[in-house]
Amino acid sequence: MVGFQGKLFSYIGDLKKNYFTNAMGNIQIKSKKYSRQDILEMQNAGKIILLVNDKIYDVTEYIDEHPGSREAILRNIDKNNKESYNFHSQDAKKLWEKYFIGYLKTI
Ligand code: HEM
Repeated sequence: MVGFQGKLFSYIGDLKKNYFTNAMGNIQIKSKKYSRQDILEMQNAGKIILLVNDKIYDVTEYIDEHPGSREAILRNIDKNNKESYNFHSQDAKKLWEKYFIGYLKTI
C-alpha cells in the first residue's frame, strides 16, 4: 500500500509493536523500564510485583488464583531468578506474560 493511507497503516503497525493490553485491560508500553526504587514504591503501595530475569510482573490481581499458592510467589518476590519461571508449563508461561509490565532499569 502506498501514499498517505499506507503510511498511516504502517505507523499504526509500529505503534502496536510497542504497546500491549495488560491483564487489567490497560494499554501498556512494552519497553517501559522500572528502577528498583520504582519496584519498592509499587510494593509499598500494596502491589505484588515480581522481578524475574530482569522482567517485572504485576501479579496483584492473580496471586489469589495461583495454583502454587500465594506463599510460593511471596517467598520468591525479589529473587530475579529464572528457576521460579522456568519450571512452569507453556500455558502458565503465557499467563505470566499477561502480567508483564516492563523491564528492570539496569543503569
Ligand atoms: C515467584 C513466582 C512463582 C513461583 C515461585 C511459583 C511457583 C509455583 C509452584 C511451586 C507451582 C506448582 C504447584 C503444584 O504443582 O502444586 C506453580 C504452579 C503454577 N503456577 Fe506458579 N509460581 C510463580 C508465579 C506464577 C505466575 C506469575 C503465574 C502466572 C501469572 C503462575 C502460574 C502458575 C500456573 C498456571 C501453575 C499450574 C501448573 C502449570 O501450569 O505450570 N505462577 N507455581
